[in-house]
Amino acid sequence: MDEKKYVDAAVEQFRSILEEQIARERKMESEKKYTDYKKLDKIIIGICGGDGIGPIISAESERLLEFILKDEIAKGKIELRTIEGLTIENRIAHNKAIPDDVLAEIKACNVILKAPTTTLKGGTLESANVAMRRELDLYANVRPVAVPDLDIDWAFFRENTEGEYVLGSRGVEIPDTLAFDFKVTTNEGTKRIARAAFEYARNNGKTNVAIVTKANIMKKTDGKFSELCHEVAKDYPEITAEDWYIDIMTANLVNERVRSNFQVFVLPNLYGDIITDEAAQIQGGVGTAGSANLGDEYAMFEAIHGSAPRMIEQGRGAYANPTSMFKATEMMLRHIGFADKADKLAKAMYHCLEVDKKYVITGRSDGATGREFSDYLMETIEKM
Ligand code: IPM
Ligand code: MG
Repeated sequence: MDEKKYVDAAVEQFRSILEEQIARERKMESEKKYTDYKKLDKIIIGICGGDGIGPIISAESERLLEFILKDEIAKGKIELRTIEGLTIENRIAHNKAIPDDVLAEIKACNVILKAPTTTLKGGTLESANVAMRRELDLYANVRPVAVPDLDIDWAFFRENTEGEYVLGSRGVEIPDTLAFDFKVTTNEGTKRIARAAFEYARNNGKTNVAIVTKANIMKKTDGKFSELCHEVAKDYPEITAEDWYIDIMTANLVNERVRSNFQVFVLPNLYGDIITDEAAQIQGGVGTAGSANLGDEYAMFEAIHGSAPRMIEQGRGAYANPTSMFKATEMMLRHIGFADKADKLAKAMYHCLEVDKKYVITGRSDGATGREFSDYLMETIEKM
């Protein structure tokens, strides 16, 4: 093995990614475009079907949107646009995380509702989620989890464009010897997610933000993350900012004595990814949680779970739970200025899932199908 050759190539690669990441930070600081949904004559909602159970649960969300936004669609205030081509087959065929024409279609919309897409393990084809978050600069991944009976009301603000993800497909390997990945924390990238978390806390009467890192080990990146969050916290003197390490916070979420004290969490990308699955499980499973990916110009809403290929292989697609997509739909409606419709949907979901429970989804044939559940949900909304 010509080790020197690999080392030289890796050093060169490191120089170029370093320069690229510096440029990304500078661009973040200088370029800002804001969308004010209230001022748009028409809001275009792009719907991406994705892979595995994706097309099944996204079809249910599309029906739900057609139902809830019937008048607005008729008046031309809202357009629902189906975006084809964000499938693993098409992405492999183009060898692109998001093929160019699909990305152009996505960018022509104002907001996106996205079903799960398959993410390959290994290789160099980047995840479609990660690419979309980057291309649309969706820096705040907001994941609410609430279990009223357990006094749990959490809002996770996961940094969504950098950390372990930004160069996750561009690590270095010396065959049979070692592999290196990169984690990047930038000033502007951290300040903007911190501001989003503290603004949310302020606007929603929350008094506490937990800054969750592993700054005792990841000293540079997480150290910076924590430090900058505290700097931003100074503008919010009414809110307490507390440092926590991700390991103990993971334990705290299942510690019944302390967990209801937490309100808002701000954390780097990978920790946010992991802990929000745990939080969603406490709420009833990853199928029950929605996720908002917010930028200044665009926003994308999705389920927090993956495309569940196993369910398709086992012929259980019809039993897939569309609830997480409905939660994402609720968040989207709120974001684009239809808070009243979002409230109604939330109320109907609570009624169907927690009170009436006429149709219960189990993911298997002993439970309801996604179609049955969404019909039931729409009937419930109609009666309200
Ligand atoms: C999520 C998912 C994605 C992520 C995957 C599918 C790339 O787990 O949205 O949490 O890791 O961010
Ligand atoms: Mg995840």
